[in-house]
Amino acid sequence: MRVVGIVGLGYVGLSLVKSLFQRNFIIIGYDTDENKVGKISRGHSPNETIEDSELELINSSGRFYATTEAKELSKAEVVIVAVPTPLTALGNPDLSLLSKACVDIAPHLKSETLLINESTSFPGTLRNFIAPLIKEHLANGDLRIYFACSPERVNPGDSFYSHENTPRVVSGLDKSTKERVRDFYAEFVNHVFVASTPEVAEMSKLLENSFRLVNISFINEISDYCISQGISVREVIAAASTKPFGFMSFFPGAGVGGHCIPVDPVYLIENAKAQDCELPLLNSAIKSNEARHHSIISHMGKELDGVKGKSVLLVGVAYKSNVSDTRETPANRIFEGLKKAGADVYWHDPLVSYWNESQSTDLKSRKWDAALVLTVHKETDISELLSHSKVVFDSTGVIPKSGDKVKPV
Ligand SMILES: NC(=O)c1ccc[n+]([C@@H]2O[C@H](COP(=O)([O-])OP(=O)(O)OC[C@H]3O[C@@H](n4cnc5c(N)ncnc54)[C@H](O)[C@@H]3O)[C@@H](O)[C@H]2O)c1
Repeated sequence: MRVVGIVGLGYVGLSLVKSLFQRNFIIIGYDTDENKVGKISRGHSPNETIEDSELELINSSGRFYATTEAKELSKAEVVIVAVPTPLTALGNPDLSLLSKACVDIAPHLKSETLLINESTSFPGTLRNFIAPLIKEHLANGDLRIYFACSPERVNPGDSFYSHENTPRVVSGLDKSTKERVRDFYAEFVNHVFVASTPEVAEMSKLLENSFRLVNISFINEISDYCISQGISVREVIAAASTKPFGFMSFFPGAGVGGHCIPVDPVYLIENAKAQDCELPLLNSAIKSNEARHHSIISHMGKELDGVKGKSVLLVGVAYKSNVSDTRETPANRIFEGLKKAGADVYWHDPLVSYWNESQSTDLKSRKWDAALVLTVHKETDISELLSHSKVVFDSTGVIPKSGDKVKPV
């Protein structure tokens, strides 16, 4: 049985723990967050990628433990790094957590370790940032480390796609590393694509998420136009998607959120800028997403004859269905925008207990002048929502028609 160390026990790290456990690996989970490590060790899952009962089983197996001690990684033959790669306050790529992880773990790596980066970043991160940093901090400069990458594709809240049935793109700095990383993932992933260089693998991840951002921003624009014409955009998409080639469906919504789709394109744009390369279409998609709240609030204002003084309930502040993650949620801008326009704004989310310095409001606590649905979870009580709202603005397309009460935004 092989020993795998995982650096960062978040959405990505814990989903890996689950898959590797099923394939009989021994797993050491390292995280700098003491509270999280304590919680995991007591069998309390910090997110929905793993159930408490699964964690309890894994903890009691003797094949997993969580720790805040980087030295425990000296027992691992494979070390996977899955730490956040967010944006700075000024909106630039922030590799400080990745840098800290490399510096902290390097002195404990043993020779022949396969070091894999799964954190998202721009092309060249493995070769020009991670490898030199780790080499500089190894206990002994003669140690042989195999540097590889495999950009993560986990889709939290998705009960169909898992590590097993989601193909993996992998690569490494040399031929032998590429073989090692391919063989490692082949143990728990059905299809592994070996890219010729780490830069191709890193770029493929940025392409995937930039592609989503551009297409979602585009369909949001089309949706605004369709609303102005009294055309159902969802019926338009259903009609267009009868074409068996050359069309792919994307659906309008409140804007993209989460740790990936609004963030990764910025990594690409900033890196391109440094190489004197402009990406105007992608830039425009980022701006369009950032301005999405204006058109939603404007549609509401037209229907309500102004939102000033109206009680408005935001429903679903997590960035997508069936997760409690509120990072980069579009609800932030919508909440602020409605408040600025004078509305009396509350929020409700059955999966999020605390957000924006307040608690989730009971949707039955009053009759709302309007509800604005941003995300629908399995637990969202749609019939109570309909009966407690004079009008429901739906950005999701999943609220059933109820006379004239439900309006698309
Ligand atoms: N969440 C997703 O759906 C998703 C999907 C694909 C790719 N990714 C990428 O994977 C990476 C991780 O994302 P995530 O959503 O799992 O993040 P997360 O915030 O859920 O978890 C990251 C964990 O890393 C820990 N951490 C931070 N700095 C550390 C350090 N120096 N040493 C050890 N642990 C440290 C944090 O305490 C946290 O528990 C990011 O680059 C992200 O873009 C995420």
